[in-house]
Amino acid sequence: MTTTGFDTDFNPYDPAYAADPVPVWHDLQAHCPVARSERFRGMWVPTRYEDIVAVARDPETFSSRSPLVAEYANMSDYGLSVPPISSDPPYHTEIRRLLLPFFSPGPIEALRPGVERHCDELLDGFAAGPGCDGARDYAQHIPVAVIARMLGIPQSDGDRFRGWVHTLLELAAQDFNTAAHALGDFFWYFREELARRRESPGDDLVSFLAGATFEDRPLTETEILGVSLLLLVAGIDTTWSAIGASLWHLASHPADQERLRSEPDLWPTAVEELLRAYSPVTMARELTRDTDFGGCPMRAGDPLLLLFPAANRDPDAFPDPDEVILDRAENRHLAFGVGIHRCLGSNLARLELEVALRRFLDRVPPFTLADPAAVTWFSGQVRGPRTLPLVFDR
Ligand code: HEM
Repeated sequence: MTTTGFDTDFNPYDPAYAADPVPVWHDLQAHCPVARSERFRGMWVPTRYEDIVAVARDPETFSSRSPLVAEYANMSDYGLSVPPISSDPPYHTEIRRLLLPFFSPGPIEALRPGVERHCDELLDGFAAGPGCDGARDYAQHIPVAVIARMLGIPQSDGDRFRGWVHTLLELAAQDFNTAAHALGDFFWYFREELARRRESPGDDLVSFLAGATFEDRPLTETEILGVSLLLLVAGIDTTWSAIGASLWHLASHPADQERLRSEPDLWPTAVEELLRAYSPVTMARELTRDTDFGGCPMRAGDPLLLLFPAANRDPDAFPDPDEVILDRAENRHLAFGVGIHRCLGSNLARLELEVALRRFLDRVPPFTLADPAAVTWFSGQVRGPRTLPLVFDR
């Protein structure tokens, strides 16, 4: 038995959970390591590091065909596919291989000057003032600009992209009509983009997909639109949440902020530690067969949540899991997942996170939360601050 009720009614959309999920995770890890909920049509929620790794490493039993949970159906029921994240081997292996060159260290490092420039432009807007909203004025804009550049679409449409992502990741799980509307708008927009790219290709990812050969055939329009949708969704909310949560940590832990200002050599381990402690992403799987897991009778078709953020706070996997230790030496965190679906964008995410935080600390004096009660967090399958008023100490 747990004291939270989350052992039998796990709800990642609960506002209190969004504000502070850590006590729930520890309670479950100690008393009910695989939670159950009738929400989302009966889902399972392992919370221990080793169980989460075991699930992620067994795609034959735990399929990725429905990586998002929803109240009304499994994603696979609608035939909606956003490869590679919603596919299983052998198809997954090949489509992932096709995308790998775009996300390897060399091409990603080449994006650094553009990310720095974009962060500086945002900082120009508020760095000399009394404060800013770290989520709204800063974090949310950075990944949109990067993904727009990769996909070759206008940055001026940033609000529209954020709108789709907000709908698909934050509202769609409980509201089919809203999800369908956002998807329709996305497909309408991208179909036109794709037609333009077929006529005059550029050096962007959509043009590459339009001309790519996959198993001796061109990619279908559905595949190209599916990959584009995934990159937009996977690249925006995730990184925005990680940057925002890290700013929240630094604002509420002045000693860590001071350490990073005076010991810049700490950045590589600090970025990993912030990713571990504030992992934004939870993914889902769908059972392909009946199985007993952790003493639980799981049935084919059941959804399962892969709570990577909880694994990263498991006391059996990390000493002092709730302490942020900027120079933590051993850190096998699961912020980017594990196994065959491990994040394809991890090089890009790390680059954006490091550049965004470093530029912020370089340009802004010591900062704190303007009012801790005014901070708002969203949680579902991506968790992060959505309002983050900061005040600069001049
Ligand atoms: C801090 C930021 C990010 C975090 C925490 C994160 C986290 C994750 C996680 C946990 C997975 C594993 C999914 C699973 O096991 O089902 C994943 C997969 C993926 N991510 Fe990320 N991600 C981030 C940023 C990005 C960015 C910037 C991109 C690209 C623009 C991206 C693209 C992808 C793709 C394509 C996959 C699917 C890989 C596959 O199925 O083989 N991610 N991400």
